[in-house]
Amino acid sequence: MSNYLEIAKKKFEALKNKKNVNILAIESSCDETAVAIVKNGREVLSNIVATQIEIHKRFGGVVPEVASRNHILAISSCYKKALEEANLKTEDIDAIAVTFGAGLIGALLVGVNFAKTLAYSLNLPLIAVSHIHGHISANYISHLDLKPPFACLMVSGGHTAILDVEDYTEINLIGSTVDDSVGECFDKVARVLGLSYPGGPNIDKLAKLGKNNIKFNYHSPLHDTYNFSFSGLKTAVVNYVHNKEQKGEAINKEDVACSFQEIVTDELTEKAMRYVLENHKKQLVLAGGVGANSRLREKLTRECEKNGVKIFLPILKYCTDNAAMIGSMAYYYMKSGIGLADLTLTAKPNVEIALSTKIK
Ligand code: KG4
Ligand code: ZN
Repeated sequence: MSNYLEIAKKKFEALKNKKNVNILAIESSCDETAVAIVKNGREVLSNIVATQIEIHKRFGGVVPEVASRNHILAISSCYKKALEEANLKTEDIDAIAVTFGAGLIGALLVGVNFAKTLAYSLNLPLIAVSHIHGHISANYISHLDLKPPFACLMVSGGHTAILDVEDYTEINLIGSTVDDSVGECFDKVARVLGLSYPGGPNIDKLAKLGKNNIKFNYHSPLHDTYNFSFSGLKTAVVNYVHNKEQKGEAINKEDVACSFQEIVTDELTEKAMRYVLENHKKQLVLAGGVGANSRLREKLTRECEKNGVKIFLPILKYCTDNAAMIGSMAYYYMKSGIGLADLTLTAKPNVEIALSTKIK
């Protein structure tokens, strides 16, 4: 084992100066089993995603134990397909990358153990990547011209934050949610409206058919900060629906979806733009699953265009969980000399968003 680590360290160091670096990445933090191969952090050679959405739909949300078991069933074939799609052999792979957190512990462990086994058996360096940083990288594979510095609005099922990305591995946390993530809020509202899992895309679709005409009993908190709070809004929408149901009154689901989505997207847009303008940022990057929301994309684009800020929206297939974004971030970790893991690597349900590799 110690011999493995010595070889891995040497190979990891040598990658910094290698012209072409192919990283095979594994992602299993929630309900997508994903394996991808990414060249030089930017070129996606293959991107395999086995989604468990249909399995979890029955339960109205992700059941962690069921997710872990299905990752076990899917991961080997995803790995084989990733090599096939890229038309590569194991000898062409320079490093193995894996999401070690944040996410569901049992689900993460499947990917982490698979990655450790691969790294050890192929004698390759193992790079442990944060899922949240991977979401930022979704933009590097979507836009080859994008380079830091930029401001980033991170909106996923697990996180909601404004980040200042000074460099690939210099990530400052500016503000985040003090309670629920925006994705959780979408999913909860969808559930109370009887929409199937995952709620976000269904709210997005339904909202297109509705009007912004409902005043929920809600006042946006945390006005003057860059932090977010979504639990009050979630409760206000749930109470609105329950009150109507108790009184036997009909609910216009389209209007509820539309009115709710307008509040959320206004808040996200307002705060992100305020940060960008107050701090003279020239580029704004959207990241995370909720970044697929059509109304949010529309509002951010409009505001950025109005204010002369360059906006970057991830390609839809890279918004939600995938391994290509992990392979991309692993490349930049490697360039900064961070992320090399040994075989004691384990999964972490929570990880810090902020990252710094410079001595300040
Ligand atoms: O980033 P992600 O795939 O997983 C985490 O890292 O958490 O985000 C999943 C979240 C779910 O809450 C899902 O409902 C939401 O992203 N989502 C959307 C849309 N597509 C996915 N929310 C709003 N509108 C969408 N179009
Ligand atoms: Zn995610």
